[in-house]
Amino acid sequence: MQPVPLLEDLPDPAGKRVLLRADFNVPISNGAIDDDLRIRAALPTIEWLTSRGATVTACTHRGRPKGAPDPRYSLDPVRARLAELAPGVELLENLRFDAGETANDPAFVDRLVEGQDLYVNDAFGAAHRAHASVVGPPARLPSAAGRLLAREVEVLGKILSGPARPFVAVLGGSKVSDKLGVIKALLDQVDALVIGGGMCFTFLAALGHTTGGSLLEPDQVGTCRDLLASGRRILIPSDIVVLGPGGEIGDPGAGGEVRTVGRDVAEGWKGLDVGPATAAEFAAEVTTAGTVFWNGPMGVFEDERFAGGTRAVADAVASAPGFTVVGGGDSASALARFGLAGGVDHVSTGGGASLELLEQGDLPGLRALREAAARG
Ligand code: 3PG
Ligand code: MG
Repeated sequence: MQPVPLLEDLPDPAGKRVLLRADFNVPISNGAIDDDLRIRAALPTIEWLTSRGATVTACTHRGRPKGAPDPRYSLDPVRARLAELAPGVELLENLRFDAGETANDPAFVDRLVEGQDLYVNDAFGAAHRAHASVVGPPARLPSAAGRLLAREVEVLGKILSGPARPFVAVLGGSKVSDKLGVIKALLDQVDALVIGGGMCFTFLAALGHTTGGSLLEPDQVGTCRDLLASGRRILIPSDIVVLGPGGEIGDPGAGGEVRTVGRDVAEGWKGLDVGPATAAEFAAEVTTAGTVFWNGPMGVFEDERFAGGTRAVADAVASAPGFTVVGGGDSASALARFGLAGGVDHVSTGGGASLELLEQGDLPGLRALREAAARG
């Protein structure tokens, strides 16, 4: 695949106005940013541009507003943080306050590029969206990938093209249906696929186990059965941490018994984490891998009672001798919460984007940049 154009491929940015598509879709609670990784991750690109005399106007989406201004998705906290980290960089309004963004409306692209000389995409987390700000400007302006986007593509490209073996992918999170495409694609590439998180119950159901009140996607059971019968190495939990009747996630005071059981979850109980035997098994798989890709927590780690599986996988990934890549907001924040982010080779800023890149081998945002470069 042809490489994406880099900052060095742009015309001299001195005195130019640059539209920077960033992914500042950061977690915010009560008006405060919980984790500013995605803002800090864009700074090398901003510095590269401003130190060469460019004026940078940044733009981003935040959340999923429905094409109209919505105060719940205000960019004010982001704008304030950006002003501290990169004074002088302007930030446009939340792109998704305009229906033209997700519709990739040419009139909205016109407005975005008006008065701009160059376009830089550093929004890896949104590169899988064929939205106006991602695919529109490269058709109108000299365009390049920023440092963050380029690094993400380089690292994930390495995994796509020739990973050190064994290659182990660890997938968690709640929905099998969201990840089916990538599960199928990864099965052809990996030596082992490790499945935890809420989606493991659909796999357990496919083996005939009871799942009680755990997350389950009944319409995916057949597909999971076929995957398990494919002859590929798929590891699913051998024990589960369950919460009994009356218990509340995130509220130990509410009562409800917490137990470790085997593969069957009883009526009225909910499986919320993988058990200690599974955690040890998964960790061993990670430790002996040449390449590890991890996306999605093993359990509801925000509740300390159900954090053991995710912590064990995070520990193993952080100390594994192989090349380790973690993709996705939840797994990245789990790593940060356990103080382990420094231990992995690459923390991707894009969850959906990294999965889709591994699944499809390319992304709309990358294609748009390559087409821009080919046009010259
Ligand atoms: C993300 O947080 O996953 C990215 O910013 C993309 O957001 P989206 O899934 O709403 O397009
Ligand atoms: Mg997402």
